[in-house]
Amino acid sequence: MKEITILGSTGSIGVNTLDVISRHRDKFNVKALTANTNLDVFLDQCIQHKPEYAVMADEDCASKLEEKLKKEAPDVSILAGTDGLLQVAELETVDYVMAAIVGAAGLLPTLAAAKAGKRVLLANKEALVMSGKLFMDTVLQNNAELIPIDSEHNAIFQCISTANTSSISNIILTASGGPFLDTPINELSSKTPEQACKHPKWDMGRKISVDSATMMNKGLEVIEASWLFNIKSETIKVVIHPQSIIHSLVEYKDGSVLAQLGNPDMRIPIAYGLAWPERIETCAQRLDLFDIAHLDFKEAEADRFPCLQLAREAIKQGGTSCVILNAANEVAVNEFLNKRIKFTDIPTIIESVMSDITQNTANTLEVILRDDGLARNRALEIIGNMTL
Ligand SMILES: NC(=O)c1ccc[n+]([C@@H]2O[C@H](COP(=O)([O-])OP(=O)(O)OC[C@H]3O[C@@H](n4cnc5c(N)ncnc54)[C@H](OP(=O)(O)O)[C@@H]3O)[C@@H](O)[C@H]2O)c1
Repeated sequence: MKEITILGSTGSIGVNTLDVISRHRDKFNVKALTANTNLDVFLDQCIQHKPEYAVMADEDCASKLEEKLKKEAPDVSILAGTDGLLQVAELETVDYVMAAIVGAAGLLPTLAAAKAGKRVLLANKEALVMSGKLFMDTVLQNNAELIPIDSEHNAIFQCISTANTSSISNIILTASGGPFLDTPINELSSKTPEQACKHPKWDMGRKISVDSATMMNKGLEVIEASWLFNIKSETIKVVIHPQSIIHSLVEYKDGSVLAQLGNPDMRIPIAYGLAWPERIETCAQRLDLFDIAHLDFKEAEADRFPCLQLAREAIKQGGTSCVILNAANEVAVNEFLNKRIKFTDIPTIIESVMSDITQNTANTLEVILRDDGLARNRALEIIGNMTL
């Protein structure tokens, strides 16, 4: 029986993780759940799964939860704030930590889980984008197991298996192209948050949905893959594959190309991460090759997806450039979701922040968090000076 903490249980990845766990109660037990402000969903999850600990990052919500759970689940211990998140990420009795908080808010608890030597199921790509080497060193030094949950990286993980990374010539990340793949470029500026969040293949949280529409998500994934697999970013190619059936590919020196296929359903990589090195059943729909009939591939147009190039630029600059890129993106996406900027302002803001903030060597958490803060403030300043 493996004891599990789910950081971000109310989100899309969190809910899918609980779905997989619910079908394998003989193998996994929910030790701790966490959320930020989504009291209603979190309350239901606590009543249904009866974790030992329930954490709400928002302190007011934690007090409300405590009041509501008194009758329904009095044995659940309620914790609050970042301290609560850290506590359940490093609990001695926990084996696996699903890192599924969105954005920079997930960095500290995800790092804490790695430091505590847990199996870290990494969905929160922003944590690795921000802390790169520091995170990978922490994993190594503490004998943590790091299993990627992002479908692309999970696919690569499956295709690499025991192969020596020096035998790899290229990694090919597939991208759906998002909801605006065929939209005339001159119409992009009028796209609304609702349209941007309507992903053609995946049902995801709002931030990653916008990242998919701009393809910043793929940029963050290039950074993520280069750290996870210790591979130069120039050898990580991006190919648009609108059906989202091939989740990524690895090309070896001898010309062999290995790919992982499956219907777009996050329960597949989640189950893989939970059961590894075994495999367990999921309720994901089976792949019907006759039904699919053909698979399409195309190149990502640079003028449609400038965020992809900005991410590659950040990798090239090194240091805290990826921290700055990520922070500016988080602020810009949030402002877009709140209808304060246009869709096409997102890359413009990120580019300005990257040129205004000087990058530093990203060797300590203090430097990473400082540059994250500086980039957020600068992004907000730039947006403050803009008019819609
Ligand atoms: N969804 C996917 O299919 C998918 C695929 C690959 C990778 N990922 C990655 O997985 C992560 C989660 O994505 P998602 O789509 O599941 O996001 P989501 O649906 O927006 O859920 C985010 C989770 O994080 C919690 N959270 C938000 N802000 C927080 C804060 N300040 N402190 C503590 N907790 C906070 C939310 O709590 P509340 O509900 O209370 O706000 C929620 O539980 C992202 O890094 C994303 O890039 C997702």
